[in-house]
Amino acid sequence: MTAIRDAILNLPRNGIAAVSTKGLGKRDVIPLWFGESDVVTPPFIREGAKKALDEGRTFYTFARGITELREAIAVWVTRQCGRPLDVERVTVPGSAMMGVQIALQCVCEPGDNVVIVAPMWPNIFQAVRGLGAEPRFVRLSGGANGEPWTLDLDRLFAACDKRTKAIFFASPGNPTGWIMRADEQRAILEFTRQRGIAIISDEVYTPIVYDVVAPSFAAIADDEDDVFIVNSFSKAWAMTGWRVGWLVHPLKLRVQMAEMSGFNNTGATTFAQYGALTAIRDGDEFLAFMREMSRKGRDIVEGFLKTQNRMSWSKPEGAFYGFLAVDGMTDSMAFAKRLVEEAKVGVAPGSAFGPAGDKDNDRFIRICFAQSSALLEEALGRLAKAL
Ligand SMILES: Cc1ncc(COP(=O)(O)O)c(C=O)c1O
Repeated sequence: MTAIRDAILNLPRNGIAAVSTKGLGKRDVIPLWFGESDVVTPPFIREGAKKALDEGRTFYTFARGITELREAIAVWVTRQCGRPLDVERVTVPGSAMMGVQIALQCVCEPGDNVVIVAPMWPNIFQAVRGLGAEPRFVRLSGGANGEPWTLDLDRLFAACDKRTKAIFFASPGNPTGWIMRADEQRAILEFTRQRGIAIISDEVYTPIVYDVVAPSFAAIADDEDDVFIVNSFSKAWAMTGWRVGWLVHPLKLRVQMAEMSGFNNTGATTFAQYGALTAIRDGDEFLAFMREMSRKGRDIVEGFLKTQNRMSWSKPEGAFYGFLAVDGMTDSMAFAKRLVEEAKVGVAPGSAFGPAGDKDNDRFIRICFAQSSALLEEALGRLAKAL
C-alpha cells in the first residue's frame, strides 16, 4: 500500500535530465543541454543583492513580492507592450516555473487537460502531469531545411474539449525559437473567451529576439481575462540560479495570489528580489548585450550548418536555442548519450520536448547557442566529427 498519488508514481523521466546526468561533473564535456548561457550575472545586479544582504534584508516579505519590484515590473511590461499594466496584476512568487505551477493550480484539476503548443520544454508538461491533468500536444509544423515553424490554429482549437482548462505556449519558443504572431494571439484570445479556457503565455524569452518583436499577451488581454503571463529574470538577465520571475494574472486573483505564493513558496527570496529590482531598472544595456551575444551564437550555428549536409534548422526568430534536424537519426536519446560519451558534447534529445514516442521530435537535438564563440565553435566541431 502507498499513499503516493499515481500521477507522481507514474511521472516519466525528463529526457534532458536523462542525458545530462551522464555528463554532470565531467569537466571535459561542453554542456549545451541546459537553457542557460555561460554568462555570469553581471556585477551591477550582484551588487543590488549584496547591498540588500548588507542592509539585513533577510526577512520574509509580502508573499506577492516587494512593492518596488512589482511596480518596476508593471512599468517594464507597460513600456514593452504599450498598454498600462495594473501593478495589482503582478505577483513575484519565485521563479517563472513557480508562476507556471500557480497558473496551472488556478485552473487544473485531475482529469482536466491542458493543450500545449509543442515542441515544448519538458518541465511544463511534467507540471501538468504532476497535477493529475493531461498534457495534449499540438505540434508546430516545419522546423527542418529552413522551413519556418508554423502553428495550425484549426488543429489547436480542435484539440480543445470540455475538460480543456488552458492553452499553453511559449513565444519565443523553447526549443524552436518560434514567435506567435499578433493575429494568432487575437484569434486564440477570442476562442478562449468564448470557451471559458485560460491562456498561459510563457514569455520568458521576449527580450531575446532577432529581427521581429515577440508580442506580449499583456498588449491585448483585459484585466479580467483568464490570461496568465509568465516571465523570468533567468534568461535575459542571466540570472538562472536566482529563481526570480513574475506572473501577470487576472485582476480578480489579486487576493488569492498572496495565498498561493504563500502556500507554494512563502514568497520569493528577499535579497534576490532586490537584485532583480536592480536588473529591471538598470538592465537595458545588459539586455541588449544578451541579445547580441545570442545573435552571434545564432550566426555561428548558421554558418556551421551551411557546411553540413546532414543537419538543418529553421533559423530561430527568438530565444537562444538551435533545434537541429539530423538526417537519418531516429533515436535522439541514444544519439545524445553517445555524443556525451564519445564526442564530449552535451545536447538535449529532441524526444524530450513532447510525448513519448513522437517520431517527429526524435529527428532533432537541441543546443543552447548563447555561449562564448570559442566554446560554441569547439562544441560544433565535435558534433560535426561525431556525425
Ligand atoms: C519556456 C520556459 N519557461 C520557463 C523556464 C524557467 O524559468 P525559471 O528559471 O524562471 O524557472 C524556462 C527555462 O528553461 C523555459 O525555457
